This record gives sequence, structure tokens and C-alpha cells, in this order.
Amino acid sequence: MAELIAGVGVSHIPALGVAMEGDGSGPAAVVHEKFAPVRQWVRDLELDTVIVIYNDHASAFSLELLPTFAIGAAESYAPADEGYGARDVPVVRGDANLSWHLIDSVIPAGFDLAVAQKLDVDHGLTVPLTVLFGSPDEWPVTVVPIEVNVVQQPTPSAQRCFDLGRAIGRAVASYPGGSRIGIVGTGGMSHQLQGRRAGHINTVFDQMFLSAIVDKPQALTELTNTDYIREAGSEGAELVMWLVMRGALGDDVSCVHSGYHVPVSNTAAGLVAIDNRGSSR
Ligand code: DHB
Ligand code: FE
Repeated sequence: MAELIAGVGVSHIPALGVAMEGDGSGPAAVVHEKFAPVRQWVRDLELDTVIVIYNDHASAFSLELLPTFAIGAAESYAPADEGYGARDVPVVRGDANLSWHLIDSVIPAGFDLAVAQKLDVDHGLTVPLTVLFGSPDEWPVTVVPIEVNVVQQPTPSAQRCFDLGRAIGRAVASYPGGSRIGIVGTGGMSHQLQGRRAGHINTVFDQMFLSAIVDKPQALTELTNTDYIREAGSEGAELVMWLVMRGALGDDVSCVHSGYHVPVSNTAAGLVAIDNRGSSR
């Protein structure tokens, strides 16, 4: 059966992508130093596929047609034109077989994902790939994209996201073959790009979240969406996507790497890497 080896929570700020594209020299050095160490660990895992939980920012979906949850089921996903052209990164290779296995497992389990057989992916998905893999000619893993609406109210609760993750974890465990799979939750950390609180950053909340996502995820699922918006900002509420990632992992996990930098753009950038191999570690 497939093995869910690792989970990563990571910001998807476009400026973080720019910082992580280069060799770490110049002004990006300070962010590079905090975020690049996880790359070697991920490379050594030799993952086949990464399930990426991300939000589309009205790039492929519009506010007129925005599924609460959607899953890509294609052999490839083009970087989306976000209004100023697509990010200059490789096309994302899919794993349609794994997508359909997840679809066939998770929908009957009560999670009504929309199925997208064509899907362009924006910075919410591709910036984390840059953070983890740099600027290769081709991404070293295939990807299953799972989109979560965190941009138009009402958004799914943290508990619902965690429960979806658990269903994904069960589905991966029943996927035949021996693939080595990782799961990435993107977004956050605290930020607000609009209104009177634009620029809101809450380092105390972010640090609590970075630690609890590993050891006490139930403390995070108990928070309401209003709590997330109040504490982390209207866009910081993207953090619920990390709970999908965490829900997919087991109880016996360990933190491999944790990094935090304020600010990148107007946002707190965070990264956590979690080993899910339990006692076989
Ligand atoms: C920024 C953060 C985001 O989460 C995003 O989707 C776009 C921009 C920012 O901080 O610039
Ligand atoms: Fe975002």
C-alpha cells in the first residue's frame, strides 16, 4: 500500500516564491536561511507524489463559481495566469490514478469534492513547490491538487478541514502500490490584505499555531472561523488548510523543521515539516 510519509505546512506568498527561486544570495538570504533547510530532508524522502491542499485566489475559479472543496483529476496542471501572466515555473504533473482513488474514497465518506479534470493552478499551489524544490526544469514529484475555499464566506470550519484530512489519510493508506506520498497545506500565516486592519500580524498566535499543528491539532480545530479571522487576519484564515494536511497524518508524528519570518510582503511566513513515519522513523 502507499505510505503517507510527510506533511508540510507552508506559506504561499508570491514574494516568498521570488525569494526562494534564487540561490539565497542578496536580500533573500535571511528568508532562505530559515526555509531552505527543509529541502534536503524532502529530497531525501524520494517522494513520488505530493497532495497539495491550497486555495485558488479567483484565478482558475471565479467568485461566481467557487467550490468549497475541489480536487484535480488531470495528468497535468498549467500555472495559472493571475492577471500579469503565469509564474515562470514548470507545468505541474498530475497523478490521475491517485486522484480518482481519493475521489472514490473521500466522496462516499461524506466529503463532496468537486472534480476538476482541467485546472490551472495559481501561486497558492506553485509557491510552496518553489519553497520545497527550488527552480528545477521539471518538478521532481507528481501532484494531486485539492482546493479549499478560504476566500468567500462562508468558508469550511477548521474541524471540517481536519476531518477531510483524516478521510484523505485513510484513502492514501488503502491505495495499492508502494508510492511514497507527502501532503502539503499552504497559506498563512497571519495576514490581512484589506480594510482597517490591513497589515495585521500576530506573531504570538502564529508561534502557537506552528507548535500546536504538530502536537495539539485538536486545540486548533476547536477555533471557529471568527477566531481565525480575529487572531490571524482575514487572509490568515488560510491556515485552516494546514489542518487538512495535519488530519491526514497519524498521531505519532515528529517535527523535523520549523521556520518563521516576519514580514514577507505584508505577511508572516511560516514553514513546518512533519515526519509521519512513526515508530519506523
Ligand atoms: C500575499 C499573501 C497571500 O496569501 C496571497 O495569496 C497573496 C499575497 C502577500 O502577503 O503579498
Ligand atoms: Fe493567499
